[in-house]
Amino acid sequence: MDATTARNQPLSEEMIDATLADSFPASDPPSWTLGRESYQGKEPATAIETTKTNRKEASIMNPNIDLSEEQRNSVVKILNALLSDEYVLYTKTRNYHWNVTGPQFNDLHKFFEEQYTELNVVADDVAERARSLGGWALGTLKEFSQHARVNEYPGQYPQAREMIANLLADHETIVRQLRTDLETAEKQHDMGTNDFLTGLMEKHEKMAWMLRAFSAGESV
Ligand SMILES: [Fe+2]
Repeated sequence: MDATTARNQPLSEEMIDATLADSFPASDPPSWTLGRESYQGKEPATAIETTKTNRKEASIMNPNIDLSEEQRNSVVKILNALLSDEYVLYTKTRNYHWNVTGPQFNDLHKFFEEQYTELNVVADDVAERARSLGGWALGTLKEFSQHARVNEYPGQYPQAREMIANLLADHETIVRQLRTDLETAEKQHDMGTNDFLTGLMEKHEKMAWMLRAFSAGESV
């Protein structure tokens, strides 16, 4: 077979294996056979081996960070309620970004975008904090609306001034809630979450200040 004919020939599985065997060092099993049913080098795992593996995986997924399951569950619960608040406030801020009207439309449209962008990051951080503690993060709109403490007003499109007042009230609600949550985290000896929530409280206080500053002018 000349070189041109060889190039045009479809490669058989044996030819591919031979090429891979030449290209990669031997391993057990050879890495290029992983997932192939034809590889017979190992006995199939027994039920006991599978159970041991599952237990090992479960123990890896269970954080060993000197906090009991009860302590972690307690903190995960407050984090999921907070996540719901953050998601509702994110949605409300985005709603106002879309629907704001008036002479300061351009400024407020951009200002609300900055705030919902920050809230998007905040919500992600809260969810991932819950996961870091071995809990699940809520991830459906239905659960967010069930657990949120900040309110929504479907079908209402308030004036710009009222939009700012609503968002300000929600940030302040979250700040007050965070003070209680900080105590819960401390009571559960979860100083990581305590520190995380303190940082979050400062972010909401800053966003609240910006909203307050915007509403101070009479032109809105
Ligand atoms: Fe937009």
